[in-house]
Amino acid sequence: VDTFVKHKVKDISLAAWGRKEIELAEAEMPGLMSIRKEFGPSKPLKGARVAGCLHMTIQTAVLIETLIELGAEVTWSSCNIFSTQDHAAAAIAAAGISVYAWKGMNEEEFDWCIEQTLFFGEDRKPLNMILDDGGDLTNMVLDRFPELVKDIRGISEETTTGVLRLKDRERNGSLVLPAININDSVTKSKFDNKYGCKESLVDSIRRATDVMMAGKVAVVAGYGDVGKGSAASLRGAGARVIVTEIDPICALQAAMDGYEVKKMADAVKRADIVVTATGNKNIITGEHFKAMRDKVIVCNIGHFDNEIDMAWLNKTYGSTKVTVKPQVDIYNVDGHDVIILAEGRLVNLGCATGHPSFVMSSSFSNQVIAQLELWENSSKYENKVYTLPKSLDEKVARLHLSKIDVELDILSADQAAYIGVTVDGPYKNDEYRY
Ligand code: NAI
Repeated sequence: VDTFVKHKVKDISLAAWGRKEIELAEAEMPGLMSIRKEFGPSKPLKGARVAGCLHMTIQTAVLIETLIELGAEVTWSSCNIFSTQDHAAAAIAAAGISVYAWKGMNEEEFDWCIEQTLFFGEDRKPLNMILDDGGDLTNMVLDRFPELVKDIRGISEETTTGVLRLKDRERNGSLVLPAININDSVTKSKFDNKYGCKESLVDSIRRATDVMMAGKVAVVAGYGDVGKGSAASLRGAGARVIVTEIDPICALQAAMDGYEVKKMADAVKRADIVVTATGNKNIITGEHFKAMRDKVIVCNIGHFDNEIDMAWLNKTYGSTKVTVKPQVDIYNVDGHDVIILAEGRLVNLGCATGHPSFVMSSSFSNQVIAQLELWENSSKYENKVYTLPKSLDEKVARLHLSKIDVELDILSADQAAYIGVTVDGPYKNDEYRY
């Protein structure tokens, strides 16, 4: 990291294509665009050096350029080895931004890329803000570069898995910075995790395999926000969906949404498609692989690849592996074929292009608001994990209404008093679950 590498992407000549798609995405990202309009002129992020580690897609390009429009300097890496869209990375590099990301890097390159984002420009100024998805950047800074912490004002964390890691740190006393949990904004997890996966899960299975979905038996492990969207995605495509859960509340929800709920050990025998969506580990293990039908498609939409025991599969049956195309591999387990997508990593970003722009606008509006808040008011926060106030959550939702012609009714003062809120909101208490 002593020497400055301005950027590293697969193919800079893809920049023009990336730029056209970024422009199309901007039209679908009203939240980010109105934040640009509101805060762009006053440049409130001037002086902020934001290191970001989040899937380098077209939508993320719009996020990056929003942070820059607000005055920040930005460096970027992707939080997954398969999730970069090379034309998006090229467009960002061509705009003069230090981005280190390409689709299909190895683990060593992955670490190298994150490391490059810690220091800015020729004069190697260190980062002073963290924007993370999954916690790999946060872990690198806190564990390997603790001397950088003193300059950093805070962390904003995108996803369920990263928030879990931050809360672990809060509990064991190793969280040395204030952090904002983006995931638990309602306008993030109840939209991106759910409606995003509803669009992007089936998209990825189709792009990878072109398999007929209608009539197939699909098993979804986990009926949290991602599982709800994933199950709906498969059902929408005509698959017959079985859910597995460990939580009685989510299991009951799945059943009352009309899904069969079974144990994985039984469900897996009937499956044509298996999708893990738990954020937990060892959901699909050796025993499950051995019980599968021929040509079963197995993939994961949770953050890390340990939901499926890929280590076991590679160790035990790695010699049978045949690659059909990048991110689609066939293993033969005792005579039956198992089709693994994206090597067990997030399938919607590995085999497709992640969530559509509109829903990411909602997630990323929360990110920008959190960066603004931490940059301007860091001293008001302790080294804890916070969520944004409901008024801002409602603001993010509001920014997305007119694009899809939603018209809101307006409370009268009398009605507002009757239900105990103010006319301008917030409209719910913090315990409300949506
Ligand atoms: P969540 O906590 O809402 O849901 C996870 C569910 O899995 C829970 O209901 C839990 O009871 C269940 N579960 C845990 N262990 C299980 C087991 N052994 N068997 C069956 N079910 C089990 O979390 P959320 O928000 O749905 O996120 C899940 C994962 O997806 C996380 O890793 C998150 O970071 C990731 N994520 C991925 C996205 C993508 O685009 N691919 C988007 C958003 C989140």
